[in-house]
Parts: sequence; C-alpha cells; structure tokens
Amino acid sequence: MDLSKLTEQDIMKMSYNELIGLVRETNRIPGGAQTVAYIASMCCLHEGKRVLDIGTSTGNTAIDIASLSGAEVVGIDINEDSLSEARKRAKIVGVDSKTTFELNDAMNLSLPDKFFDMVICGNVTSLLSDKEKALSEYQRVLRDTGFLVAVPMYYIKKPSDQLIKDVSNAIQVNIKPLYKDFWIDFFTKGDFEIFLEKDFAFDNIDEEKINQFCDYILSREHLKDLNEKAAITLKEVYRRYMLLFRYNLSHMGYTILILRKSHKEIDPELFTAHAL
Ligand SMILES: C[S@@+](CC[C@H](N)C(=O)[O-])C[C@H]1O[C@@H](n2cnc3c(N)ncnc32)[C@H](O)[C@@H]1O
Repeated sequence: MDLSKLTEQDIMKMSYNELIGLVRETNRIPGGAQTVAYIASMCCLHEGKRVLDIGTSTGNTAIDIASLSGAEVVGIDINEDSLSEARKRAKIVGVDSKTTFELNDAMNLSLPDKFFDMVICGNVTSLLSDKEKALSEYQRVLRDTGFLVAVPMYYIKKPSDQLIKDVSNAIQVNIKPLYKDFWIDFFTKGDFEIFLEKDFAFDNIDEEKINQFCDYILSREHLKDLNEKAAITLKEVYRRYMLLFRYNLSHMGYTILILRKSHKEIDPELFTAHAL
C-alpha cells in the first residue's frame, strides 16, 4: 500500500482490524508473555512436542512457545499478510526451523487427526461464526493425551448497551456480552475436562500510558510516508480506539483454561483443595 496516497477520509473509514494492519500492532493472546510462559510450563512442553496455534496472527504466541520450549509449532490463520509477517518475525528470533505458518481455517482444518500434543486457541474462538465446528476440529487434530488451551475473555461487570454497540462497530463483529459460565459450558460439554483454570481481571491502564503507547506505535518508520493531515487523523482515530478498549477491558477478565480429553473410565477426584 502506498501510504503517501492515504487521505484523512480513508483513515476515518478504516475498521480497527484495518488500522492495526496499517500500524502493524502486535496481536497477543490475553495476558501476553505471562500467559504463554504459564502454558508452556504447566503443560511441560519440550523438544519433540507438536503445538498448533489457532489464529496465530503475526505469530507472537507460536514464536514464544517455540523459543521457550523447543517444541515444533504450526501457526494457522486466514490472513496471509499476518502469516508472512509471522514468518519474518520467526526468522528474526531464530525459531524459523521450529515454526511453520499456514493459511488454514479454524473451522475446517486441513491437518491430520490426532497429530498435536497441544492446540492453543487463545481468545480466537469467540470470533468464529461456527464455534462448535471449530471445537470439533481442535478435538480431531489433538492426540488423546494432548491439551487444549483456551484463553477466553468475558465480562465480569455488566457492560452498557452503548459500550457493546461501540465495540461491535470498532471490531466489526456483532458481539454478545458473554460471561465465564458460557465458556466453561462451551469447552466442557463435549469430550474435554478442565485440567487447570486460572482467572484474571484486566488492569486499568492510566491515560498517560495509553498516550505513550500511541506515540510509540505511531512513530514507526513506515508511517513517516503519510501526509501530515492523514498522520494527525490516524493519531486521533487510533487513540480513540485505545481509549474505547481501555474502558471495555475495565469490565472484563479472562481465564487460562487448560483442558484435556476426559478419561471416563477413571473415577473423578473427590477431595479437591484451593490455594490459601
Ligand atoms: C485477536 S487475533 C488472535 C490473537 C491471539 N493469537 C489470541 O489467541 O488471542 C485473531 C486472529 O484470528 C484470525 N482468524 C479469524 N478467523 C479465523 C479462522 N476462521 N481461522 C483461523 N484464523 C482466524 C484473524 O485473522 C486474527 O489474526
């Protein structure tokens, strides 16, 4: 894309997804690096294990998993631009021999049965039109001893109708406010049982930090090609999105949910305990 030709109107018409493509913002699993480290250690990933990262985007989770654990990671996405950026980043980090990035649809994976030791679907399932089909695909490609890791985001405080409308417009997906119970029922109603579950609430990021982040992202070299008016508009629009997401996330949390295929022949644990 020739950025020097972009006008203020072009930028004002862009959805959030188009804007993050333009500014090359990194897409992360909820909780970022901490979540990835938790998953890699709790699931004892190591060299020789095979991991599938669903909706890998620019490959952040896949690259971190490969470099932390030495496992082989396949990242899939429906966006070829993100995948080619993921391949570049894997090379820079030095894990290109451990990672492959493929165009593939989460709801119709062209991957073999019972092949992976772990499938990570982050928060991606919430974006899919046929969640049940995606879950059956995760299950199909997972070995019987494998782990399914989901990190669903959900509301912990009831959002207003206006907030839901604003976020739906921003991400161009008609969102329905979902709560933790929905995701627990969804992931456990089939063949999976919960192995580990850890809850988080999003931090309330102060406005100064938001401004600094916007300045940092918008000072990227490739954006210097924008004309002055387009650059000013981009700054305003991007900052508005960040403030909207900050407000939305102040109502939200997420759970790192590690599931495994149930072994129905083994009796359930009775005397469970909780951390003090
Ligand atoms: C928010 S990002 C994911 C960030 C991070 N990997 C996570 O786990 O939350 C969502 C990604 O899912 C991808 N995506 C959307 N629909 C998909 C589908 N049907 N199959 C595979 N990827 C899909 C998008 O292209 C985008 O890169």
